[in-house]
Amino acid sequence: MPKLTIDGIEITVDDGTSLLQAAEQLGIEVPRFCYHDRLSVAGNCRMCLMEVEGAPKLAASCAQPCADGMKVHTKSDKVKKAQKGVMEMMLINHPLDCPICDQGGECDLQDQAVAYGYDRGRFIDKKRAVKNKNISPLIRTTMTRCIHCTRCVRFCEEVAGVFKLGLLNRGDHLEIGTYVENMIDSELSGNLVDVCPVGALTSRPYAFKARPWELTKTYSIDVMDAVGSNIRIDSRGNKVMRILPRLHEDINEEWISDKTRYACDGLQHSRLDRPYLKNAKGKLEEVSWDTALEAVADKLREVDGKHSAAIVGDLCDAEAIMALKDLMVSIGSPNLECRNDGAKFDVSEPVGYTFNSGIAGIEDADAILLIGTNPRWEAAILNSRIYRNWKNNNTKIAVVGPKIDLNYHYEHLGNSADILQDVLDGDHHFSEILKNAKKPALILGVGATIRKDGLAIHKLARDIADKYNLMHDNWKGFNMLQNAASRMAALMLGFVPNRANGGMDLEEIIKASTKGKLNFLYLLNVDNIAFDKLGKNTFIVYQGHHGDSGAAIADVVLPAATYTEKYGTYVNLEGRVQHTKQAVAPVGKAKEDWRILRSLSAHLGRPLPYDNLTELRDRMIHENELFKYKDQLPSHRWCNFARTSDKVTKTPFKLPISDFYNTNVICYLSKIMQECSEIFVKKTIKKKKVNG
Ligand code: SF4
Ligand code: SF4
Ligand code: FES
Repeated sequence: MPKLTIDGIEITVDDGTSLLQAAEQLGIEVPRFCYHDRLSVAGNCRMCLMEVEGAPKLAASCAQPCADGMKVHTKSDKVKKAQKGVMEMMLINHPLDCPICDQGGECDLQDQAVAYGYDRGRFIDKKRAVKNKNISPLIRTTMTRCIHCTRCVRFCEEVAGVFKLGLLNRGDHLEIGTYVENMIDSELSGNLVDVCPVGALTSRPYAFKARPWELTKTYSIDVMDAVGSNIRIDSRGNKVMRILPRLHEDINEEWISDKTRYACDGLQHSRLDRPYLKNAKGKLEEVSWDTALEAVADKLREVDGKHSAAIVGDLCDAEAIMALKDLMVSIGSPNLECRNDGAKFDVSEPVGYTFNSGIAGIEDADAILLIGTNPRWEAAILNSRIYRNWKNNNTKIAVVGPKIDLNYHYEHLGNSADILQDVLDGDHHFSEILKNAKKPALILGVGATIRKDGLAIHKLARDIADKYNLMHDNWKGFNMLQNAASRMAALMLGFVPNRANGGMDLEEIIKASTKGKLNFLYLLNVDNIAFDKLGKNTFIVYQGHHGDSGAAIADVVLPAATYTEKYGTYVNLEGRVQHTKQAVAPVGKAKEDWRILRSLSAHLGRPLPYDNLTELRDRMIHENELFKYKDQLPSHRWCNFARTSDKVTKTPFKLPISDFYNTNVICYLSKIMQECSEIFVKKTIKKKKVNG
């Protein structure tokens, strides 16, 4: 461990620590452009120069490892003069764009020019200009502002796993580009805007919309998938202007998916802002909250609990789920279902439906078997970890399911569940790989269980985990990949059919409705079930925030708040409990979901036993004590699961997501997501068809 002094302060650092990192440990600010904590070192901007006593030249501190006995200066006259020189060179070709540049106010170049540069330039030659590139509908390029730090190139190659950007030409003609005109088709492309230290790459949807000092910042959690990425919501007035990542080392580091970042325009469109009730002519008409709730309460009084059901959608918070469960149980309904996609898996033990490795932990696996899942679309952040694991360790990855476009090499074992049986029986060559691996992992997609033999597939996957010792004291390699933000909380709160009392699952609920045997159905944010199969005898209440398919078929529509408009609890795919915060107020007369349910219970004459968020959260903890532990990775014990008599069939697996940009009601109503879907998904499918 080298011991050195920086600016007269002694420090001992780990081997391999760079001078820049050592200075940071001492709290010394070092200017930089090309260096980024999470990317490889390029050492090409020279802004981080330091003086090392005895060395002939100044050292690029990001690329210079610490050595024993070094005496380093970060603020000597020599260093200051060199930094001024670097700034001057950097600005030779930089345009005077600050007043019209979207990076203004949060630009590294602007800040460092003020702190480390001269107050005037000596160059009088014309500035060079570089043509802008069309690389994405999400990214606006102004390439004249590029300082060639190559952070974007390294991000693409090291994190996103797409090799699209590079440095072209040399000398005065040097520029960043895509070689041939091309789009960056990555689910993580929006992070390029964050890694670019200047205004060369900025957010296209956010262009010229706001300045950073006008925005109110709220720390919250994303709900576009089950990853639970930590986000910052920037709002102005009552409008969400943009969503940015927030650091969480164990979940999303400092990245977010494009859906998390850009779907927020969907929060403005087709919002339900007032209650509606179907009139005698069968048309929805606006009514007061009291009228709407009284109509639902009247119906609930009239129906038998056994012929009533409730389904929760993908975006619900745990508070709403708890309140809906309590309400339905109070009327005697055993028909609760959170698997609105029709998935069938064993819900008896959390270890069976949790991502037990943890998102960060998957980087340690030395063999990975993916079953019926496309992690690139179901959890883009997780997929980036798998990509880095493969890139750094050459990890063996195999897929059982449809062939998919992953950004790492995998072996396609086939698309039949029989293969899993062969792997279990040791008759497959991948069995050997699992057997010899020290940290083997299996990722069972929830999509693999959306089929008649879902329970048997789930059982088979757990048997493989048992046989190849995927779960032991030092390693947890059995993972189920949930893809809906609400699912884990709903499972933990037991929002599943109460089989002991004859509770029905999704398929049975829909069948009962078709046959006229279901009188009441409560849809909490559900927009993706087979609405056309619901029978006329079923009275449908839709509670949600967007007027989409669910609201269209409802008898009563209750307007609710989105995730940016409420304080809510979400549990991510690892079982980590996190909270959203209210960034803006709900639109119109919309209310937080749990408040609507609480009011409804009062109208019904069976008031739920909580009047505020604290009491409701206590109730959740009473139901499942894991809700007490905020932001902690649970460690579930492996156990023997119930046997199932179901047999695995040869039906090929189908993936649950066919379009990354179209997975929930906010995306459906986001113009930006629709544009991306058209460019990156639909056009690619058409092209593939044309090319056979
Ligand atoms: Fe100004 Fe920064 Fe934009 Fe350059 S990149 S024009 S320095 S705000
Ligand atoms: Fe760096 Fe931005 Fe230029 Fe890429 S586009 S090299 S990130 S300045
Ligand atoms: Fe060190 Fe760029 S930050 S050379």
